[in-house]
Order: sequence, then C-alpha cells, then structure tokens
Amino acid sequence: MNILLGVSSGIAIYKAVDLASKIRKEGWNLKVIMTENATKLISPVVFSSVGNCEVYTDTYEIEKGWIIHTEVSKWADIFVIAPATANTIAKIAHGFADNLLTTTALAFNKENKVIVPTMNTRMYENEITTENIEKIKTLGWKVIEPEAGHLACGDVGKGRYPENEKIIEFLKIISEDKPLSGKKVLVTAGPTREAIDPVRYISNHSSGKMGYAIAKMAKRLGAEVCLITGPTCLQYPYYVDSIVYVESAKEMFDVVLENYNKCDILIMCAAVADYAPIESAKEKLKKTHERLIIELSKTPDILDYVGHNKKDNQIVVGFAAETQNVIENGYEKLIRKNADVIVANDAKIAMGSDNNQVYLIFKDKATVVLEGSKEEVAKELLKRICSLL
Ligand code: CTP
Repeated sequence: MNILLGVSSGIAIYKAVDLASKIRKEGWNLKVIMTENATKLISPVVFSSVGNCEVYTDTYEIEKGWIIHTEVSKWADIFVIAPATANTIAKIAHGFADNLLTTTALAFNKENKVIVPTMNTRMYENEITTENIEKIKTLGWKVIEPEAGHLACGDVGKGRYPENEKIIEFLKIISEDKPLSGKKVLVTAGPTREAIDPVRYISNHSSGKMGYAIAKMAKRLGAEVCLITGPTCLQYPYYVDSIVYVESAKEMFDVVLENYNKCDILIMCAAVADYAPIESAKEKLKKTHERLIIELSKTPDILDYVGHNKKDNQIVVGFAAETQNVIENGYEKLIRKNADVIVANDAKIAMGSDNNQVYLIFKDKATVVLEGSKEEVAKELLKRICSLL
C-alpha cells in the first residue's frame, strides 16, 4: 500500500516522525511532503531517514523529470495529512494551491484522504476552523478528531495530536474490504473476576488479546461492534462502536442478555469463571482461621444461553479452552451449547500469547486449523464466519 504523508507546521510535528516510522514498520511504501514552515521545525532529513523515503518540499523541484504533485497524487493509495494546521485546512477547504502540500491535496482524487487537525484549542474551536473542517468533510476528507488534554502552549482543551496507533488503525480500517458491512457483532473478551471480599477475587490467566483482536478485526471488516470485556491490561481497541466493562460472570451475562438480540454474530471469547463465591464478604476477611472454606456455585453459562435462545439468522461462536483432547472436547461443547462454530485451542499455549493456533469446528464436524498472530487468526475466523451468513 502506498501512503503519502503530508506534514504541516503544527508543533506536534515531532509525533509525525514516529508516524512515518510506524508506517514503514507496517511494510507500507511511504513518501512525505512537508510545507516550507514544517521544515523550519524539523529537517526533511529526519523524515527521510526515519521513513526511509523520499521527502518533497518544493513544487518546482525537478525530480526525475516529474511534476511532483501530479505524480505523487497518482502514486498514493492513501493521502494522510498529520499534523494539519488551521492554515493548511483553510487552504484545502477553499481550493488554494500555494505550496506543494495544498497543490497535491487539490490533485488527489481518490477516496482515502485523511486529515488530522492539530492545534491550539482556541484556534480549533474558532468558528472559522469549525466551518473549514465541516467543509473539507463535505469534500470527502476523513477527519480524525484531535484529542482533549494538555497542549504545548499550556492550555487545556481539544486540539491534541491523537495516538499514532489510532491513526494507523484508521488507515487499516479504510483500506480493508468490508464483508461485514451492515452486520452487528457482539464479542465477549477477557477473564471475569468473582469477588471473595472487597480486595480478593477468583479469576484466570486470560489476557483478553484474542477477544480484542476479534473486535478490532470485525470493525476493520465493516461490522458495528459491541465489545463486552472483563478486566484486562490492554488498550481498548480503537473505533469499536461500544465497549462495556464488566467484572463478574453475572455482570457479563446481564450485559450480553441486554444486547444479543440485536446482533447478527455473537462471539463468546471471554474466559468466564465457571464458579463464583456464593457470598462475597462485605469486609476484608481476616486471617483468623487455620482453614478457610469458600463455598462456590456455578455461574450462568452465557454461551449456553445464547446458543439455545438464538434466532435462525444469528451465528453463535464459542471458544473452547482445553488442555487435552482439544477437538473432541470442542465438538462436544458445540453440541452441548448449540453453537454454530467452536474455536478450540490449547489453553496452555494460547493464554497470554500474541499468537494462537486454533481449530475451527463446524456443526458437520468439518475442522479447519488457523495459525498465526491473534490478529491474523481473528481476521481469518471472521472471514470464515461471513461465509455462514
Ligand atoms: N462460557 C460462558 N459462560 C460460562 C462459561 C463459559 O459463556 N459461565 C463460554 C466461554 O466464553 C467459551 C465457552 O463457553 O466460549 C467455553 O468455555 P470453556 O471454559 O472452555 O468451557 P466450559 O463451558 O467452562 O467447560 P469446562 O470448563 O468444563 O471445559
């Protein structure tokens, strides 16, 4: 994929150097255009070295007999301007072409043009900037909203450059085919915590990585995604439509119940605790007994419930974390819980790892092995599920 990165002279420009690096790490081809003012803040040599790419600054530079703005605008699949100053946005909104960046913006006629406004909050909230941003949206620019927080000038408010990971995820979303367009996907992820007292709980080693990868990939493939997650240390996946944080199996069950009816695909990836203390002590338990017996009772089985209450057009996918007889136990769970697909894996290998090897088991006993990073496995899994719709 060919990415053209336009850089204007926001003070967040130093973050755009890291964006150039991240674009390269994705294996995408990169070219950079800087405005003249941007070169006063950071040398083009920095972008050229970090991005291992050509950097253009001058409309009238003769490059291999090229007219730069027409050639690079033809070459690029995605044109992303980050940071985009109020001035650059204003020029693009009104069709000015007074430097190489704005001239290229005028010449770029493909769908994937992205702009990351970054500036002081008063400039951002100025009516004219608001108007210009609305205008460029009508011209087809996809705007990644700035974040709120501390700004370089000391002000606090909206205008901060967003995380580069968020920008990269946006580029992935817009460049992916959308086989799940119009579909609603519900994903459960992570472990649950069953309280013993206010400071202790029963849980398991699930990291949540597989469920988060599925939610992220479902979004990339065009679905509207609801993620219901137990406690994890992970950054919530960007752009997922709704994320509900829960702690216990009972809470997860209740939230799934509220939402599952309106979804087309339900993917129960959470490692839900099977048992919870019958009563959670109101105060911290003291170490006054030699032996402590905590009585547990079964938690509601969420997959079992949705499997037996699903509508004909709903697809229910369960996971089976096994430590032995992975395929046999997985198939038994598919039948018992009335799922359409079971993703069975070896819990000892999968938990906490960035990679996974899973067996996709279907009702007719057909079994497919998927292997790779959890993101790769998630994407392939979702594509296989699409074929059941
Ligand atoms: N599951 C669930 N609610 C529970 C327990 C499990 O929804 N209370 C779901 C999990 O999200 C997963 C599937 O059931 O999709 C299988 O989970 P797993 O822990 O492998 O199986 P269990 O049903 O708990 O059976 P066992 O522990 O006996 O293997």
